[in-house]
Amino acid sequence: MGRVLKWIGIVLGVIVVVAAVAVAVVYFIGQNKLGNAWTVTPDAVTVPNDAAAITRGQHLAESVSPCVGCHTPNLGGDYLINDPSFVILPAPNLTAGQGGIGATYMDEDWIRAIRHGVAKDGRALLVMPSHWFNYMNDADLGALIAYLKTVAPVDNEFPPRQPALLPTILVGLGVFPIEPELIAKNGPRVDVPVGPTAEYGEYIGYIAACRDCHGTNLAGSTDPNAPQGPNITPGGGFALYEEADFIQLMRTGQAEGGRMVSEEMPWIEYKGMTDDELKALFAYLKSLPELPTNGS
Ligand code: HEC
Ligand code: HEC
Repeated sequence: MGRVLKWIGIVLGVIVVVAAVAVAVVYFIGQNKLGNAWTVTPDAVTVPNDAAAITRGQHLAESVSPCVGCHTPNLGGDYLINDPSFVILPAPNLTAGQGGIGATYMDEDWIRAIRHGVAKDGRALLVMPSHWFNYMNDADLGALIAYLKTVAPVDNEFPPRQPALLPTILVGLGVFPIEPELIAKNGPRVDVPVGPTAEYGEYIGYIAACRDCHGTNLAGSTDPNAPQGPNITPGGGFALYEEADFIQLMRTGQAEGGRMVSEEMPWIEYKGMTDDELKALFAYLKSLPELPTNGS
């Protein structure tokens, strides 16, 4: 009996030690990924400075790829998550004011952060949807940066992000992916002519990050950490939408059937999309196969 207990004790002891080592290793991997050693040399993109480009850039920042949704309407930033037991994660101040990055960011730094998910200080970004902005073409990215450089300075300082033990482990495991990991899975970037076509709608759908909440195939969220966007292929409730219903939803938040959707669906920002952009998105969503809702 004594010997059996002793052996059970040894086996349990070994299991505990192995588990502790595994946790330590995964934590170490997570810390490494969250370190500031990411290097990306982006392809050059021409950043214009004419009024038309700046207007286009403002439209993208406010209504299409809505930077303002997380970085706030004046782009002075705010805490996206502020839970010291989990993570303190500011969406930083993008202006040239005190505590803002705008004063030190060069064109190349903007491209690296928006398109490749790596900040000027070399840290891989979390939550910032660079893996969808990565699809933005050179003309739009140039216009966006042109606008960002004109934004009025706002003084607003934040501490560096601080992930606690658990999220660091989840980053180590890849459960919380960092942006460069996600970008590695992207398809090629394509240039499409602007117009109310399904093809252009596909482009808008990417750079507006619909997939962040509606799933990679748009048939419903598969990410338990993101808002649970429903199936928006013709295989879901979206089948009932006519073009006018869709435009009404995107402009007013009122869904087909009259219900107001929650503000998790960022219609407050998308409402500024042009008619052509909304028509293009609608044509694209209707052109998708009738997919069953993910996870059902
Ligand atoms: C869903 C929320 C969200 C949206 C939308 C978003 N960002 Fe961010 N952004 C963040 C967060 C959070 C961080 C900080 C991430 C970190 O520190 O890991 C960040 C970081 C950045 C950085 C790096 C700043 C630094 O510290 O060096 C830049 C630049 C940036 N965002 C620009 C933009 C632009 C431009 C847009 C619109 C095209 C945009 N963001 C849209 C959440 C967002
Ligand atoms: C930040 C998360 C998020 C993003 C980004 C997002 N959505 Fe949503 N969306 C939601 C959520 C959550 C709902 C469900 C809201 C509700 O029912 O109250 C929703 C609802 C909808 C609906 C209504 C569906 C129905 O069955 O009535 C449509 C259509 C839609 N979204 C389209 C889009 C499109 C197109 C984009 C990109 C341009 C987009 N969404 C981006 C979260 C998001």
